[in-house]
Amino acid sequence: MALLTGKVAVITGAGRGIGREEALLLAKHGAKVVVNDLGGHFDGTGQSRSPAEDVVKEIRSAGGEAVANFESVTDFKSAKRIIDCAVDNFGKLNIVVNNAGILRDRMIFNMSEEDWDSVVGVHLKGSFNVARHATAYWREQHKAGNVLNGRLINTSSDSGILGNAGQSNYGAAKAAVAAMAVIVDREMSRYGVTANAIAPVARTRLTVDATPQTAAGMAKKEGEWDAFTPAHVAPLVVWLASDDAKDVHGEVFRVGLGNVWMMRGWHTGAKVSKKGSMWEPAELGTKLKEELAKGVTKKESMGEVMGGGV
Ligand SMILES: NC(=O)c1ccc[n+]([C@@H]2O[C@H](COP(=O)([O-])OP(=O)(O)OC[C@H]3O[C@@H](n4cnc5c(N)ncnc54)[C@H](O)[C@@H]3O)[C@@H](O)[C@H]2O)c1
Repeated sequence: MALLTGKVAVITGAGRGIGREEALLLAKHGAKVVVNDLGGHFDGTGQSRSPAEDVVKEIRSAGGEAVANFESVTDFKSAKRIIDCAVDNFGKLNIVVNNAGILRDRMIFNMSEEDWDSVVGVHLKGSFNVARHATAYWREQHKAGNVLNGRLINTSSDSGILGNAGQSNYGAAKAAVAAMAVIVDREMSRYGVTANAIAPVARTRLTVDATPQTAAGMAKKEGEWDAFTPAHVAPLVVWLASDDAKDVHGEVFRVGLGNVWMMRGWHTGAKVSKKGSMWEPAELGTKLKEELAKGVTKKESMGEVMGGGV
């Protein structure tokens, strides 16, 4: 059943990997798609038009509608042109998937200012830039009586929601884009817009070339079901983008291998209280250690969530 007939979508970083699969499936479900991609290397250097152009060709040859856009999400004005590209070509915008991403893994003590700025620039500032222009458009349209059922889907990561050594830049940005989705959802509900975040797990160049330590476990085994194909991420995105998902919002989903995990973020694991006089620091420490020893604040790790995988 086509879920997105008549919808218009922008997907950033849609020239490769997860974004490409999302673009193909959104188009298959009837959405007209702006395939945005700068076409750079996984570290954010370089650029090429061919990844976005190739995905547009693929969509068109399957009978769908798509246009390519090569702007970088990192620049506020360029991000406006990405949103304008949808409205100019297809007359409106319903769906935005903030997917563009790069990696520059370093331990915190070795991380350069540029490694920090470039990763935060693409993931956090880039997601803000695109969301900022899209939400302004949806609010303006809503005020004019044109309800578009806007859908924002931010792309987070295990690194942000569970933590991963060597990725303080990336994980901090990815935690922030999950938080941003929850907050934008609260701000935009009155305009008929929902926001959610996904944390994908898939075999792409970010997991094969940029983080080779994870690649071996993700390889496709001859004759076996391909658990790690990025195609497993797209069905969730198509559904979240649809009108049917209007009551599912402000959520963070982990997705891959045929699984969708509905994640729960910061929540109270334990509480210690003292009334009438202030805590003595040592007394407080003793109480906190007692609570921690009960295991109530134990956090999941990436491996535990996967059930031992990756
Ligand atoms: N692969 C995984 O398992 C995994 C896990 C967690 C999160 N993610 C996230 O999923 C998203 C997609 O990653 P992927 O694994 O498909 O990697 P990928 O490298 O295959 O695709 C990312 C795309 O983003 C594009 N891009 C980079 N900077 C851009 C910019 N400034 N403007 C526009 N486009 C830009 C790249 O050219 C590339 O085509 C990223 O946000 C990534 O952090 C992936």
